[in-house]
Formats: sequence, structure tokens, C-alpha cells
Amino acid sequence: MNFFDLKNISERYIELINPISPEKILTIGRVLGLNQDSRVIEFGSGYGEILALWAENYGISAVGVDIREHACQRAEKKMKDKGITDRIEIVCRKGAEYEFEKHAYDVAACIGATFIWQGYRSTIIAMRDAIRTAGKLVIGEPYWLTENIPLEYAKEEPGVYTEYELLKIAREEGFDFEYVVRASLDDWDNYESRNWYGLIRWIRDNPDHPDRREVIDHLHKSQNEYVRFSRQYMGWAVYVLTPGEAVSSHLSHSV
Ligand SMILES: C[S@@+](CC[C@H](N)C(=O)[O-])C[C@H]1O[C@@H](n2cnc3c(N)ncnc32)[C@H](O)[C@@H]1O
Repeated sequence: MNFFDLKNISERYIELINPISPEKILTIGRVLGLNQDSRVIEFGSGYGEILALWAENYGISAVGVDIREHACQRAEKKMKDKGITDRIEIVCRKGAEYEFEKHAYDVAACIGATFIWQGYRSTIIAMRDAIRTAGKLVIGEPYWLTENIPLEYAKEEPGVYTEYELLKIAREEGFDFEYVVRASLDDWDNYESRNWYGLIRWIRDNPDHPDRREVIDHLHKSQNEYVRFSRQYMGWAVYVLTPGEAVSSHLSHSV
């Protein structure tokens, strides 16, 4: 099984694929001032839950881009069931290869998927081209809770920064942090254990599946990592980035 096959199994009972609640996603929408004139693009949109919440509550129009066929199908079905296909388009493609309309969006979001451009800084640089002059970026990203991370764990997560480093990189790229919505330990527990719940049900329902052992190993490995390391050393937050002086002038020249 590849990584995405395992995700399709573990996420069977999950709509938001991050340690965050629908209420917190709505808070971010309010901070952004989303309304029916807002145009949003989300890279790595998963099951489309964030866009659906913002469409239903604030009336946005949006494009969601995700590489995974299974996620796109679930997202498209969700939009159909909710009657919002006229406002939300799902594009099944590698995020970095999607040719978006430049400087056409009020918000560009990448929530838990900066690996699309191999990291946080390159995500800011890539999404900067998508927003209008006063547009905002929304980035969901893990960060180290301390500078003393066990080497064994740090080696596994080379692209993770401290939160102060995330702040400095945003400034270097011309943005200020306008708002942060942080995952609580409850959000983490909820997200991680909902993945376990999906895996355990699949293992129970597929006693003769040839890949069952692999799924059990994946469950145990992810539980070990969470209980031993992530729960103590890794934070996660969504940052709203607003153009600082430098980028405002850069954008007003380029639009
Ligand atoms: C952690 S999930 C976040 C989904 C969504 N933002 C949410 O919070 O519910 C990351 C998503 O990125 C997608 N993904 C992974 N690599 C990608 C790529 N190269 N281009 C676009 N999407 C990608 C995965 O399929 C997955 O749905």
C-alpha cells in the first residue's frame, strides 16, 4: 500500500484532515472577513471541508486543488450534497502544477500541505502570486514547541521550524502574522485518534486482506510516534499572513 492508500483508510471518519475544529475554521473565516464576493483558492484541499464551511457560512466562491483522486471524489460529492457545486470547483492535480489565475484571489490557503512546494517559505512565495494586492495567505503548519527536540525525532521531520522561525520567514517574504489559531492538545488527540479509529475498524472488517499486516504496522508506528514524540514536541497552528509594507508595494507594481 502506498501512503495515500493508508490515508484513505485512516481518514474514513474524518472530514477536516488536521488538528483543528470546524469552529476554529469559522473563526479564521471571520478574521479574513470572508463574504459572498470573496474568491479563495486552497492548495491541498482534501475532502473540501474548509471550503464547504466557508461557502455555507460566508458565501465564498473557491477553487480547491488536491492531488488525490479519492479525496477529490469525496470533496465533489460533498459539494453536490450541499448544493454548492456552483461556487466550489475541485481540481484534481498536483498543487504546484496547477496554473491559477494570478493576483485574482482574496485568500490563498494551504492548510497542512506546504510539502506541495517542499516547505513553508516556498509556499509563501508560490501563493503570493495568487492573491490580489490586499489579499491574505492562510497557512496551517506544524512547529517545534521547544528547541530541545530528540535527535531521533528531529531527523524524521527536517522541514519543521520553531514558531519564531516561522514568524521571521513570513516577515522576510514581506508578510506580517495577522492572526494565529492554535491546535489545542484536545484538537491533536481528536485528530490522531480519529485516524486510529478508522484504521482499527478497517483492520477488524478486513481479516483476510493481503495488506492487513501493513495497516496494523502503520497504526502502531503512528501511535508510537504520537505518544512518544509529537504530543510533547510538536505544535500546530493556522496563521493568517497579511502583506507588510514590502510586499504591498511589490504587488501594487505587479498587478
Ligand atoms: C493534511 S491534508 C489537509 C487537507 C485540508 N487542507 C484540510 O485541512 O482538511 C493534506 C492534503 O494535501 C494533499 N496533497 C498531498 N500532496 C499534494 C500535492 N502535491 N498537490 C496537491 N495536494 C496534495 C493530500 O491528498 C491531502 O488531502
